[in-house]
Amino acid sequence: MKPYTIAIDGPAGAGKSTVARLLATRLGYQYVDSGAMYRAVALKVRGSGTDPEDSDAVSALARTVRITFAPGDSDYTEQRVFLDNVDVSGEIRTPEIASLASVVSAIPGVRTALVTNQQSLGTQGGVVMEGRDIGTVVFPHAELKVFLTASADERASRRHKDILARGGDTTVEAVRADQDERDARDCGRAVSPLTVAQDAVEIISDGKDPEVIVNEIVHLLDAERSGT
Ligand code: DC
Repeated sequence: MKPYTIAIDGPAGAGKSTVARLLATRLGYQYVDSGAMYRAVALKVRGSGTDPEDSDAVSALARTVRITFAPGDSDYTEQRVFLDNVDVSGEIRTPEIASLASVVSAIPGVRTALVTNQQSLGTQGGVVMEGRDIGTVVFPHAELKVFLTASADERASRRHKDILARGGDTTVEAVRADQDERDARDCGRAVSPLTVAQDAVEIISDGKDPEVIVNEIVHLLDAERSGT
């Protein structure tokens, strides 16, 4: 069976990572979290003292960093992310790095560097990649495109639980304010803003178990393969 390329896009907190990871395991495909790559660049920007507003310097940095992945401990744990061979899996998940990732991801030179990188990971197919522009820019010819979203309240509540589970201390109101800011930036930037690809299937994840969503996607794939 021809290995497919599957694009899963959507806003923060929609459940993309869990669904994409479970789906990749179910299909025996490679899973790629493209957001982790923008987060890794943000971490490098902060660590190197580069001015995030200096587009040329940040783009140069994005062209030279080495970002690699290794599987997590289980289907329910994130994959490990390495920046220049150092495990930064925990460090890239802080709210501060999330905000900085949103800022650096609006820089055209950063996007060009990372999109090239992402495309090279998917040349053979057999990949589930999640992000904001996978179906629109990275793999416009993906066999299946899913736009996974959820209400803003549900997304903020999930993120809040996630931050507490990681030992963070914040309120759901603060998470919501941060999320609104990030959504506005991700949807409003000039280059590759978050939009629904015209041939994407939209799935709303409110109140749905990730396994249920994975089953829905597998049905969509079966339908695609059988041409129905
Ligand atoms: O999915 P995430 O929250 O880990 O993504 C972090 C930031 O990276 C997010 O604010 C937007 C950006 N991003 C992007 O612009 N394009 C992608 N394909 C993935 C993430």
